[in-house]
Amino acid sequence: MMVINEMAPSEDPPNKAEAPFSIRRMRPEDYGTVAAIWKAADLPHQPQGRDSEMRVREQLEKDISLYLVAESDGEVIGSLLVTHDFRKGWLNRLAVRPDRQGRGVASSLVRRAEKDLLARGVGIFAVQIHGHNLTSRRLFKKLGYDEHEDIVYCSRRISPDE
Ligand SMILES: CC(C)(COP(=O)(O)OP(=O)(O)OC[C@H]1O[C@@H](n2cnc3c(N)ncnc32)[C@H](O)[C@@H]1OP(=O)(O)O)[C@@H](O)C(=O)NCCC(=O)NCCS
Repeated sequence: MMVINEMAPSEDPPNKAEAPFSIRRMRPEDYGTVAAIWKAADLPHQPQGRDSEMRVREQLEKDISLYLVAESDGEVIGSLLVTHDFRKGWLNRLAVRPDRQGRGVASSLVRRAEKDLLARGVGIFAVQIHGHNLTSRRLFKKLGYDEHEDIVYCSRRISPDE
């Protein structure tokens, strides 16, 4: 399932969390907490492959990476790993710590990613969502993303861990 938005991002949504949070770039030392959030949120990921600590640390160095975290009271509570190919920005690994879900954290991460991508001249924002992930589909629909049911996702992997 692919969802693409070609619209300019609108204003950041209101911060609905009881404790305030902010969005910042991910730092290498955030990896452990981010990986724990992916696990706690049941986000499919590849800890032995492209989501391993070593690989993520390498990716953080690249110009095409815009890796974001949400932070509240000095604690990381959400992640969104964005990469772009100069034509589209791809939103990956969006996850919010379960006890902080439903309060606008993911929406803020997505809006910040859109803003940062636009600043780099990238005006198409895309995300791949499992068809059964109705929560995420609803989130992106609310944020103005269109679903494209006529697009089939194809991939070839050099290893199952990738
Ligand atoms: C999907 C996820 C990132 C949303 O994070 P969040 O911070 O709770 O999202 P927000 O609070 O910004 O919610 C924005 C909108 O998403 C939708 N939404 C969020 N949680 C929802 C839920 N449990 N049920 C239905 N809709 C939901 C709603 O439309 C919501 O707007 P509303 O609160 O005005 O109704 C979070 O549920 C999560 O980490 N899920 C597990 C990992 C995952 O599936 N990631 C997405 C991979 S593509």
